[in-house]
Amino acid sequence: MSEVTIAGKRLLLVAACALVDADGRVLLAQRPEGKQLAGLWEFPGGKVEPGETPEQCIIRELHEEIGIETDIPCLAPLTFASHSYDDFHLLMPLFICRRFRGIAQPREGQALKWVRPKQMRDYPMPPADAPLIPFLIDLL
Ligand code: C5P
Repeated sequence: MSEVTIAGKRLLLVAACALVDADGRVLLAQRPEGKQLAGLWEFPGGKVEPGETPEQCIIRELHEEIGIETDIPCLAPLTFASHSYDDFHLLMPLFICRRFRGIAQPREGQALKWVRPKQMRDYPMPPADAPLIPFLIDLL
């Protein structure tokens, strides 16, 4: 996406995915030391690179970060999260994926946890992810 600013602040597009396994558990990833918001738990995903769609971003990030392979037909858009930080606005489309291949492995030093939907409330999350929890608990 080319650079967009809103009221003087940069708009950052980050795509995220609720990866749901056959037991109905959801994958959370802990942001590693050295990254902004380190220690908080999030839905896997990352920045949408120029020329990418959010779906392509999710497919790339799942592969790079956790060794999971999936395809566009396996991704369904759920909702948008957003948060305004001091220096940028974050806009985060959330997808759900129930069909994927591989076993999730932490390829970037992050901790990973498969959790039951209600257990997600026990994991501190960044401000954009946290409001998605009641929505996902209802859905799942
Ligand atoms: O994951 P990454 O560091 O590429 O994300 C870019 C920025 O987006 C982070 O610095 C963080 O501020 C924000 N972010 C967020 N919530 C997420 C993922 C990223 O607020 N779940």
